[in-house]
Amino acid sequence: MASFDNSGSRISKLVSGIEPSPTLAVDAKGKALKAKGEPVVSFGAGEPDFPTPDAIVEAAIEAAKNPKYHKYSPVAGLEELRNAIAQKTSITAGADYNVSQTIVTNGGKHALYNACLTLLDPEDEVLLPAPYWSTYTEAIKLANAKPVIVNTTEESGFHVTVDELQKHLTSKTKLIIITSPNNPTGAVLSKEELIQIGKFALENNLWVLTDEIYEHLVYDSHSQYSIVSLVPEIKDRCLIINGVAKTYAMTGWRIGWIVGPKDVISAAINLQSQSTSNVNNIAQVAAYKALTYGMEDFEKMKVVFEKRRKLIHGLLSDINNVSCNLPEGAFYAYPSFKYYMGKSIAGVKVNDTLDLADIILEKAKVAFVPGEAFGTPGYGRFSYALSEEDITEGITRINKLLTEVE
Ligand SMILES: Cc1ncc(COP(=O)(O)O)c(C=O)c1O
Repeated sequence: MASFDNSGSRISKLVSGIEPSPTLAVDAKGKALKAKGEPVVSFGAGEPDFPTPDAIVEAAIEAAKNPKYHKYSPVAGLEELRNAIAQKTSITAGADYNVSQTIVTNGGKHALYNACLTLLDPEDEVLLPAPYWSTYTEAIKLANAKPVIVNTTEESGFHVTVDELQKHLTSKTKLIIITSPNNPTGAVLSKEELIQIGKFALENNLWVLTDEIYEHLVYDSHSQYSIVSLVPEIKDRCLIINGVAKTYAMTGWRIGWIVGPKDVISAAINLQSQSTSNVNNIAQVAAYKALTYGMEDFEKMKVVFEKRRKLIHGLLSDINNVSCNLPEGAFYAYPSFKYYMGKSIAGVKVNDTLDLADIILEKAKVAFVPGEAFGTPGYGRFSYALSEEDITEGITRINKLLTEVE
């Protein structure tokens, strides 16, 4: 009998090449230290620190009692939820969307994976403005496509420009990803900027994936616009990703969606039919409630975030040689620690922000996500989804530690 050496690597090349989520890792590290009794203040979490509003929880309890929801349901989502998503998006995008142009997924992250797998071929290039949410690069790589990083500057408020996009355009470019409000910078793209990006995409036959998961969290005079509402012609080449996680404090419920052209959505439904099938029915009923019962609870949460935003921005800006833009949206501040790179802090050499995050966690017991996770070393992401007391305590500790610079 023929014999073969089948003892190749145990893990596939594709999955071996995927980075673990750095934001979840920081959060886990902080929580593990806390569990050991360390007085850790963690700025790592990318989730509201509020419970899901009662009305939504009650709807889920009722749904759990209904045998109808104990069974498989349509792969693309419950009709009433898809309807609510289509209606909501028709308003924000200023264009008609119907149920067949929606798919409910296991969170925004899963929406992104479905979108990348459905749209991208091997070798396709995706323009990704940095700083970027770390999942984008990995979702693109899982589709065997190539993330092409487009840098922005702190001076421009981390707003991507068409000039920079243009520099990275090739015959292989298929897609641009935009996230506004942005994770990790909090930047909110203006109407004019979005129009420019939309026109650039149209002129070059590109697709746009717009991640609108932080759509309601905008402050001061900033407004969030869906690119389809500004450049309607892009609708046929645009995928809108969204979900209930951030607006309704529902990160654990895992409901997201894609809205887009029918052919792409049908293909994504096909993909989902062979992977996860329908999303949990109880969570879908809860998401339906979230989308239809009003924004009162969210407005209260937003007032709290606004106060914290100013507080953390002030405290970070008070640290010697740290600069920080005032976040325009979401719930993250993204200060620069570039001055401290290559210096020693409390006798420990700091080569990059990974080192800085380690030493700050070890000596000051404060966790944040280093900028390397978002393609921009030298910066750090601070979620302000924690109490004002914790924000003050955590940043004050960092300020004190950084005075020990040599
Ligand atoms: C920009 C962005 N998009 C999408 C998501 C995904 O959210 P979820 O998968 O929790 O719905 C997140 C979560 O952190 C995010 O920051």
